[in-house]
This record gives sequence, C-alpha cells and structure tokens, in this order.
Amino acid sequence: MSDIFIDYTNVMADAVGDENGLFDENFMALANRAEATHKALVKRHKSGDLPFFDLPYKTDDAKKLIRAARAIRKNFANMVVLGIGGSAIGTTALFTALRDAAHNSLSAKKRDGVRLFVTDNIDPDNFGQILSSLKIKETVFNVISKSGATAETMSQFMIVADLLKKKVGKDWKKHFILTTDAKSGTLRAIADKNKIKSFIVPDGVGGRFTALTPVSLLPAAAAGIDILSLLKGAARMDERCSVKDFMLNPAYLFASVHYLLDTARGKKMTVMMPYSSRLKDVADWFRQLWAESLGKRTDIEGNPIYAGQTPIKALGTTDQHSQVQLYVEGPFDKMVCFLEVEKHSKDIVIPKEFGDFPGVAYLGGHSLGELLDIEKRGTEYALTSNKRPNMTIKMSEVNEYAVGQLIYMLEVATAFAGGLYNVNAFDQPGVEFGKQYAYAMLGRPGHEEKRADFEESLGGDRRVV
Ligand code: PA5
Repeated sequence: MSDIFIDYTNVMADAVGDENGLFDENFMALANRAEATHKALVKRHKSGDLPFFDLPYKTDDAKKLIRAARAIRKNFANMVVLGIGGSAIGTTALFTALRDAAHNSLSAKKRDGVRLFVTDNIDPDNFGQILSSLKIKETVFNVISKSGATAETMSQFMIVADLLKKKVGKDWKKHFILTTDAKSGTLRAIADKNKIKSFIVPDGVGGRFTALTPVSLLPAAAAGIDILSLLKGAARMDERCSVKDFMLNPAYLFASVHYLLDTARGKKMTVMMPYSSRLKDVADWFRQLWAESLGKRTDIEGNPIYAGQTPIKALGTTDQHSQVQLYVEGPFDKMVCFLEVEKHSKDIVIPKEFGDFPGVAYLGGHSLGELLDIEKRGTEYALTSNKRPNMTIKMSEVNEYAVGQLIYMLEVATAFAGGLYNVNAFDQPGVEFGKQYAYAMLGRPGHEEKRADFEESLGGDRRVV
C-alpha cells in the first residue's frame, strides 16, 4: 500500500518564471508563520478544540458502522441520503471514487452493497424522479443534518415521511436513519421522540470536515466501501502531517503553495483537475472545503480581509476540450492542481483497427490509461511552458487507503491555510446568512423580525429587461 505524494516542481520560478513562480525565499519567509500555525493547531487539538484530527483513529466507531451497514444491506436494496453541502458532498466523493461507475445498475450480487443515491438538491424534478424510480419498500433514507434544521433537508425528510406512511404504513420509521448532533436540533428531537435509529455527527466537526464521520462512513459502508482502509489511509496521512517542518509535511506544503501563489503571485483561483473520473467528485468536495473554509470577510481579529482563493473543478481529459484553452492562455490568475493516478483499476487496450489509416492507426496497441497519462503530461507541459504554475498529487491507484490519505491531507491543508490567512477556517457565516433568510421568509418561528429586515432591504423596484 503506497503513499500519495505531491510534485510541486512546476510552481517554482525555475519552471514558470519569476513573475508567476515561487522562489525558495518565498517559502523561507513563510517559515515563522508556518511554525506558529502548526503550534496553534497542535495546541487547539490538545485542548479538544479540533476533533477532526482524531477521526482517523475512530476504528471502534467504524466497526459499529460496519455492523449497522450489514443490517442495512440485509434489509434494503437502496439507500437514499437526504442532506446537502457538507452533509452530502463527501459521501458522493467517496462513492464515485470507490465504487464502480455502474454500481447502481449492477445486480445485488455483483455490486456488493446497496444502491446509493445522494439527493443534495431540492429541485423537485430531480428529487421526484429519484423517489419514483425506487421501490420504496426496499429503500432506507439516511437523513443527515448537523444542525438538524436545514430547510432543504428537512423538507425532503417531511416529503419522504409522508410517502412512507402511505406506502409502508406503521413500519415507516424503520426506513429512516437520522444522522445529526448528539443533543441539539429538531432532527435529534424527532429521532428521540419517534425512537428512530440515529447516528451522531461528532461535536465540533463542521459539515465539510465530516467525510470521515458517520455522515459519510455509514452510507459508504452500506454501499460496500471498506471504511477501515479509508481510516487507515487517513491515519497514515496523519502521521505524515504531524511533521513540524512545513516543507516536509504534505498538507502544510499544499496549503503554503496555494497561499503563496494567491497572496504573492495573484493566483486568485485554483483549479483541481483529476485525470481520473473516479476522482471528479473529490475535486467537487475540495471545492466546498476550500471555498467555505477560507472565503472570509474578516480575519481572526475582526478586521476586513476578504480572503479566499476561488476553487474550480475540472476533469482531464474532458476539460482539455473545454477549459484548458483559458487556463493556458487566459489571465494569469490561476494555478492548477492535478490529481494523477498511476494504475487504473481496469485498462482498455485500443485495438489495431483501421491500420490503413495512419491518422488513427498510431493509436492501436496503446491503452486508454496510457493515453490519459500522456494527455495529462501534455496539459502540464502546455501550462508550464506558458508560465502557469501547476502541481500534481500522485497516487498509485484509487483505493480506500489512497483516498483516505487524500481526503485527510486536504482537510489538514485547509485548517493550516486558515492559519496562514489568519481566518477562522471552521465557521461559515455566509452560509448561515442564506439559511436565516430561508427560515424567515418561510415563516419559521423566531425569525419574524429578520423577515421584516429582509423585506425592507430587498424591497423596492426591480430592474428587469
Ligand atoms: O459545511 C457546512 O457547514 C455546510 O455546507 C453544511 O454542511 C450544510 O449547510 C448543511 O448543514 P446541515 O448539516 O446542518 O444540514
């Protein structure tokens, strides 16, 4: 089982020039701040403030989830996750990475796990289609909300509760598993009052840091993912991320490169571009993690700062034919982080068809994995020679151990970047603002005053063409 590693050669000035690349001196100048950030994180962790650092070692909890997942698989063919944001995206990332692309259409025996659906939106067309496509009697719904109040998730929950009461009658509660805070929130109160099976979102772990908690681990285990290997990978990465020297710590290095390119070289956007369809939703998950954690109006002391780098997701080779033109020749405002996989779980050799046509004959005998790899190198070369900083996270294959490392590394990197930017990486006041608006406008008790404020500030004539 191998470690993932980061190749950052192409962010250096040697590779992409003085104006766009970094010098050793840039890193040296960051050393004190990096050390202070490391110390602050260690101190907070020791005081019990950052429990996400303990998640890789929660193997006893994971074993309980595996037992629960076994029962789910015995009783149900389908699992639908009702959740949004941090309560959904991590699960999708794990599912896409670690299950067959055709998982949900395979027979029960071949897929080895429930079919899994994550309904992270309330678009009525989409939600209605998912519900009507499933045999409700064979379906369990995992309602996930840390706050236990998010309007989208609670609405889905209420719709499904009504549906289940009509379709399965008195057994409706058996079709629900609620994952929420241990004590607070309406969802917890509903679980307790109705004696519905429930799991806990660990205290102090914010939504976007929950990929290694029951939020994602329960549905992952139910779908057949080896969650113990996932934690083992995370624990291995935790070992590597406990190194104090920020240049030797993969998470700290990842964060420092991004921070320096943003603040010293104007790379206000970062593109995560896996050359693996399996990892495309890891890029989506990272997009939330980086954006919500670092996009902040004020620094820790409350001064205006407007920090954050805009994360963009792309997919190789698909986006070579869509986005790469912009990345290679457009404004000098981006950096790219590739995710590269050495060995794909299946490779396909291109047959020697149409040998009398030199325009395609040269492809015969190569494999799709080889083509993907060469295309990645081509994009890397095009970016580098056009002075666009880029780095690559390399993994030998996409398996639980590697994905556990990657997820945990990116979480630690985000926490560390919060320290470099001097922002609180663990709150999301901008998200809460939107939630408050929805509560007020839909008439949630206690929000009457806010409703009046919203109506006043957003009222007036609209300019519409
Ligand atoms: O990362 C976050 O905190 C958010 O994206 C939340 O996960 C999202 O808003 C859903 O919140 P909740 O789990 O409370 O329903």
